[in-house]
Amino acid sequence: MEIIIQPDSQQASQVAARIVARTVREKPHAVIGLATGNTPLQLYRILVEMHREQGLDFSGVTCFNLDEYLGLPQAHPSSYHSYMWAHLFSLINVAKERIHIPDGLAQDIPASCRKYEQAIRSAGGIDVQVLGIGTNGHIGFNEPSSSLQSRTRIKTLTDETRRSNAAGFGSEAAVPTHVITMGLGTIMESRLCLLLAFGKKKARAVAQTVEGPVTAMVPGSVLQMHPRAILVLDREAASELKMAEYYSWVYEHKPGWQKY
Ligand code: GLP
Repeated sequence: MEIIIQPDSQQASQVAARIVARTVREKPHAVIGLATGNTPLQLYRILVEMHREQGLDFSGVTCFNLDEYLGLPQAHPSSYHSYMWAHLFSLINVAKERIHIPDGLAQDIPASCRKYEQAIRSAGGIDVQVLGIGTNGHIGFNEPSSSLQSRTRIKTLTDETRRSNAAGFGSEAAVPTHVITMGLGTIMESRLCLLLAFGKKKARAVAQTVEGPVTAMVPGSVLQMHPRAILVLDREAASELKMAEYYSWVYEHKPGWQKY
């Protein structure tokens, strides 16, 4: 795992944006996996700026989102469809037919999940998967106890996650109980996993993910088994890492050709 600690979330998002932008420049038909939540908002803002000011071209890019709430129509203001169109898709030149988000209204859920996995494979696999992390260590919506080899499927949210996500719905009771999410096995097949975490409330999940045992009880910890996982953190999210100084030293002394 590569741990990059930045003074604040803005600078951390700049690093993440450079990594995504480099992938898109080097591979115009790149496949990008996308996350929702508060964490990637600054990253998306910077990518939009790069598109407008530097001509970063998304016309050949294919996108796959990690997850979606079950039972919400796409147009629901709290659906991840609405989020992605508001914060990214309507602001860059990505082609509509290359945008993929799990279908929250799928009738045959297993078939819809199989189709999603097949679409990822047909696109050539994900080059960079952007990830956030839940306070309980979930990635995507893979809650604690998720199989480390799981594929895209229906999951039941924990109360902790429904509480964390209540803001967008007005109350915890209004948060859907079920979701469709890429599995941990699906995420692990991405060529690069780029996890962002900001703020004190993520410090414990980050420490368990990086320095704890690999366990289904902390789904993010599966990234320890990934050959290319980069975690970009602000100081607060890194505050419970025992080896924080070492990670910072490594990043500051990277040879020029390895820098982002
Ligand atoms: C949500 C999403 C995750 C996200 C996480 C953290 O439930 N399904 O993809 O990474 O929770 O959200 P936030 O960035 O708002 O803290």
